[in-house]
Amino acid sequence: MDLQLSGKVALVTGASSGLGYATAVELLQEGAKVVACGRSKARLESAYAEVAKKYSDRLLLVEADLDIASAASELLEKTIAHFKALDIVVFNSGGPALMRFEEATDAVWEEAFSSLLMSCIRVIRCALPYLRKSTAPSILTVTSITAKQPLPGFLLSNVFRPAVIGLTKTLSKELGQYNIRVNSILPGYTATPRFTEALHYQAQKNHSSFEAEAEKVSRQIPLKRLSAPNEFAKSATFLVSPAASNITGLMMQADGGFYEGLI
Ligand SMILES: NC(=O)c1ccc[n+]([C@@H]2O[C@H](COP(=O)([O-])OP(=O)(O)OC[C@H]3O[C@@H](n4cnc5c(N)ncnc54)[C@H](OP(=O)(O)O)[C@@H]3O)[C@@H](O)[C@H]2O)c1
Repeated sequence: MDLQLSGKVALVTGASSGLGYATAVELLQEGAKVVACGRSKARLESAYAEVAKKYSDRLLLVEADLDIASAASELLEKTIAHFKALDIVVFNSGGPALMRFEEATDAVWEEAFSSLLMSCIRVIRCALPYLRKSTAPSILTVTSITAKQPLPGFLLSNVFRPAVIGLTKTLSKELGQYNIRVNSILPGYTATPRFTEALHYQAQKNHSSFEAEAEKVSRQIPLKRLSAPNEFAKSATFLVSPAASNITGLMMQADGGFYEGLI
């Protein structure tokens, strides 16, 4: 299937590692021009060292900390200055710390509000004038399975991911008149560097092994394994592509069947 991504300009935030990185690479492989953002230029350059050899003419690395209010508009300015257009936004960023309600101070709540919700709002708001000029515009928010199925210990994610899918659904209604499609992918347990690091930490804490901890998680998943970042990336790339031209307002799990609900 031709995803019709050749020449399209895609901005992927949180793209130096894990799900964002895998999606940026998949988009490049499908012919898109990609702006990959992260907080550290050095981490971006290291992550894309090999990829850049092949795609340097279609890849722009931009250092931007989206927790800072002015970062989104600067990121969009750099994107437009370089590629002159924007068709696709994949909003992704780091996940919040795990904790229980009694541990969360006001500062923790405010920080999570800013990094999980406001950063997404700002990027989309700044991207909108350019997306409205595109012939095949789309937005994808990367959230979490916690948006549909709250998980123990994932307090901040359980609270703010539903807000992001609420935003996503609302935008799909408001922006449909401009032909802008807005969807979300809700990843389940995926073997990104960050998640495998968390499993190593659990193994140390429980005096077990990485394999034993991965097996514990996998047992809860119908496909009996962690998802792979490139599996996520393929779903994301399809959803933002013109090949998915009739799909908007979709909150799609990519979780090996982990989610227990019906719809
Ligand atoms: N992996 C899973 O199993 C899973 C499951 C459900 C949901 N999720 C969610 O999916 C997202 C990606 O997960 P992941 O496992 O791929 O995480 P990851 O490997 O930690 O990647 C997060 C990316 O976001 C960037 N980032 C973090 N804070 C940022 C900021 N303030 N401004 C700009 N970029 C920022 C990081 O780069 P720098 O550090 O260089 O800035 C990195 O490139 C997270 O929100 C996570 O909670 C993951």
